[in-house]
Amino acid sequence: MKLLNKLPVTMVTIMLLLTLKTIAQNSGSLVPLPVSLTEKKGNSTLSGSVSIFCNEPSLFDALQLFNSQLALTSGIKSGKTANQQQADIIILKQQDYKSEQYSLNISPDKIVIKAATPQGVFYAGQTLMQLCPPEIFGNKKSIMGKIELPCMEIKDYPRFQYRGMHLDVCRHFFPKEFVMKYIDFIAMHKMNYFHFHLTDDQGWRIEIKKYPKLTEIGSKRKGTLIGSYSDVPHRFDTIAYGGYYTQDDIRQIVDYAAKRYVTVIPEIEMPGHAMAAIAAYPELSCTKKQIDVSTIWGVFDDVFCNRESTFEFMENVLTEVIALFPSPYIHIGGDECPKVRWKECPDCQNRMKEQGLKTEEELQSYFIHRMEKFLNSKGKQIIGWDEILEGGLAPNATVMSWRGIDGAIAAAKEKHYAIMTPGTHCYLDHYQSLSLNEPIAIGGYTPLMKVYDFEPIPSELTTDQQKYILGAQGNIWTEYILNEAHVEYMAFPRLCALAEVNWTPRERKNEADFKKRLIHHLLRLKAMNVNFAKHVFDPEVTTSANEKAELEITLTPMKASDIIRYAINHEPTDQDPIYTKPVTLTSASTFYCRAQGEVQGSLLSVTFYKSASFGANITLKHAASDRYPGAKGAATLVDGLKGGKRYDGQNWLGFSGDDMEAVIDLGSKKSISEVAVGSMDIKGSWIHPPKRLQVYTSNDGIDYKIVSDASAPLDFDGIAHSVTFKEEARYVKVIAQNQGIIPDGFQGAGHKAWLFIDEIMVK
Ligand code: ACM
Ligand code: ZN
Repeated sequence: MKLLNKLPVTMVTIMLLLTLKTIAQNSGSLVPLPVSLTEKKGNSTLSGSVSIFCNEPSLFDALQLFNSQLALTSGIKSGKTANQQQADIIILKQQDYKSEQYSLNISPDKIVIKAATPQGVFYAGQTLMQLCPPEIFGNKKSIMGKIELPCMEIKDYPRFQYRGMHLDVCRHFFPKEFVMKYIDFIAMHKMNYFHFHLTDDQGWRIEIKKYPKLTEIGSKRKGTLIGSYSDVPHRFDTIAYGGYYTQDDIRQIVDYAAKRYVTVIPEIEMPGHAMAAIAAYPELSCTKKQIDVSTIWGVFDDVFCNRESTFEFMENVLTEVIALFPSPYIHIGGDECPKVRWKECPDCQNRMKEQGLKTEEELQSYFIHRMEKFLNSKGKQIIGWDEILEGGLAPNATVMSWRGIDGAIAAAKEKHYAIMTPGTHCYLDHYQSLSLNEPIAIGGYTPLMKVYDFEPIPSELTTDQQKYILGAQGNIWTEYILNEAHVEYMAFPRLCALAEVNWTPRERKNEADFKKRLIHHLLRLKAMNVNFAKHVFDPEVTTSANEKAELEITLTPMKASDIIRYAINHEPTDQDPIYTKPVTLTSASTFYCRAQGEVQGSLLSVTFYKSASFGANITLKHAASDRYPGAKGAATLVDGLKGGKRYDGQNWLGFSGDDMEAVIDLGSKKSISEVAVGSMDIKGSWIHPPKRLQVYTSNDGIDYKIVSDASAPLDFDGIAHSVTFKEEARYVKVIAQNQGIIPDGFQGAGHKAWLFIDEIMVK
């Protein structure tokens, strides 16, 4: 470190001006936001070689990651000094701090870090990294040998002790190098647990020496579902898929995580989600029948049997797992275990009699209790999904609440620890935007700010009960996530929001401030080559019909200074115009736009389906369901836009059991010859196309005559079902008849079918 006051004043001024931009960006861009930050006058400069004094050797090592990134990206080396007076960075043990607490005091002549533990120093180092230019997060020399840090004082510690991220490596496998990068993500956001989902129906991914077939057979499947689970019929590829971690890989991962103060919690699923293990050792199931590793997602009946030999197997597996993972916790799954096999199995039924158990839920509870007893005897605690509450909670279990927050509330009321990971806010495999261009996801809609606004402490808990909520975790299930870039896309930036949920005091959180910091934070992720989602840079797009029946498109930029380029019928390039005022589409065409900048926004598009009914008055006999009302209500059906593949989007109206009956007023008598109705067909999600399509016309809106009546199968050209006729009329009544009750042989048989309509085009 060099002192600024040794340089001539003019040079100092020039340097200040040059660095002002970076400083202004950096000081306000920490993610997660610290407990307190006081900006002070002046800067501190890192250059040449940095000397570090530390009064406790174990604390020095915790700054190594910062030191090595600094050296790699800027060439600035650091080393120990025994002379506190001359040190650039001083690390002092502060006995009375909490375990992850630190303070960081940057003044022009020195940087002082105080902490009680290496974790505290590590987090001070992570904060220091974020105060440096974003390129420090990269893997090459890209900083010009000198770094200016704004002077400030930070006092910081986490709100919650459990700050986790999960990764499912069973549905799709990710190599250990990526798992390590994922651990980097966790650590740089001051999170401290990695939940490693290692076994499931579609693959067993950890080597167990005593049972080699678990990986020889259980880690491989013959093919994989193509497209969505809701597609009918299901289609499969026949590409062999597999992968697993050797015990050596696991040790490397655990060691890598430990250096970043991340605890790796292995999940070994039981008694459900066990098909891969059963494929390897069929005697583990009730029927003992040979089955295949699953090629499709879901919940399956073949689960572990409650036979003595299964428990012996589980204990042997866990003995090897315990030896690999120093984590105080082992996750034993416990979710989604159907009881159909147990009901038919003499061994399971005998076990119930022997134990005096009345229901199969109690039998599941017996299974979990036994495994807990075993793990407790080895000094480990169990975590289980919230189903472990059913039939009685094991004495020391921690509950991971995923089907909402009720599991955590129930656990806390029983004085059990709980981790919050409700699907609504913490499942990062859900869609993060309503855009039609999103890659296929499992469903749901969990945008960034919904994650940010998650409050882990339920209001129904008393102060005493609140202390049982350990923190929150983000889950990434990978049924629809096939590669590393896609994991990153789903994780970011929502992981950043969750980091702040877990770390930052509730009263310090602020949406607008978070977004501002995030924009700079994403440059750090860019330096790490992370494929983060770009929605935070996207303008808001709204459309309306103008008086000339043209589609008017208005963009509201994220920031007033954003430059947005647009083009018609092709992706915008640097040569295309910059948006300044609403753009009108006069004919059927596609509008594309993208925000430009240090980070580009995502490609947004609007396709205009022009017809005589565009912008017309429309009334509906039955309102659409509250769940799927469309962005503009009934007018959604004549807004010139179609809904695409996702029924949860803005452009679909959903009718549960009801017909869609619309009257459209074309304003004056017009010559018409076709009505085309866009509908959806996802029978796996209970959504059926119309059974019948009737069109009536009228000139007074009172007396109607039928002009077309077509029954399923209706003509479908990939865009809409259409019927033709020749008429002159002002009013058009369209009835798309709901399937009614779902027939046998389909998902949801016996329930009301959904009818989804996105557009009615009169031509
Ligand atoms: C889960 O999502 N089945 C825990
Ligand atoms: Zn059985």
